[in-house]
Amino acid sequence: MTPVFDFSHFPVLETERLRLRRMTHDDAQALIDLYGDPEVMRYLILDPPCDNIPAAIHMIDWMNGHFEQQNAMRWGITLKGQGDSVVGTCGFHFWSREHRRTDIGYDLQTAYWGRGYITEATHALVRWCFDHLDLHRVQADCTSGNTGSERVLEKVGFTMEGIWRENTFEHGQFVDLKQYGLLRREYLAESTE
Ligand SMILES: CC(C)(COP(=O)(O)OP(=O)(O)OC[C@H]1O[C@@H](n2cnc3c(N)ncnc32)[C@H](O)[C@@H]1OP(=O)(O)O)[C@@H](O)C(=O)NCCC(=O)NCCS
Repeated sequence: MTPVFDFSHFPVLETERLRLRRMTHDDAQALIDLYGDPEVMRYLILDPPCDNIPAAIHMIDWMNGHFEQQNAMRWGITLKGQGDSVVGTCGFHFWSREHRRTDIGYDLQTAYWGRGYITEATHALVRWCFDHLDLHRVQADCTSGNTGSERVLEKVGFTMEGIWRENTFEHGQFVDLKQYGLLRREYLAESTE
């Protein structure tokens, strides 16, 4: 077993096309651009909304606060060779040391959808989580019908395990949530194929 991550530094994750880094207050406008887009928000709930600079700064502090508390991390996604602007985010949350599992999540500005960026980021995120958090399982849920997110999870090797019927009150209606899971042994089998 590798030692569990000690949170002494915020790691940068690199993939072929992406650089995932800690967010700072300089990323506030990027988050407003991201979460101010109704297409991005279609299957997400943010309360309070992230629609002005103080709210965005509060959100960045809240995300980084979870790092300080050592129970979650959210990276800003930047595109290599295209400056340092954040175009999306991803991370893990609800990490349970006792049950050795965590949830993950992600989002991306619509201008960059459909280019495989979140699949690439999620591969790196899942790898980092299994390598550093001593996990047995990584899980995610998404609103039934969020086809892009469902495809990302399937492409990264997750199994759709069930549906929480009318689990969440989202934009004025109760919606079904699909639960996805990836076990360590499945991840290892896939990564050695
Ligand atoms: C879901 C989301 C993160 C996908 O990001 P992305 O970078 O566009 O995803 P990828 O390019 O890696 O695509 C992965 C697969 O999903 C498919 N896909 C992506 N968006 C899709 C859409 N809106 N409808 C149908 N399929 C879609 C892609 O075609 C690809 O499948 P393929 O390789 O079989 O063609 C992005 O649409 C998003 O930010 N949505 C809003 C936020 C959100 O819903 N987050 C998830 C909450 S659970």
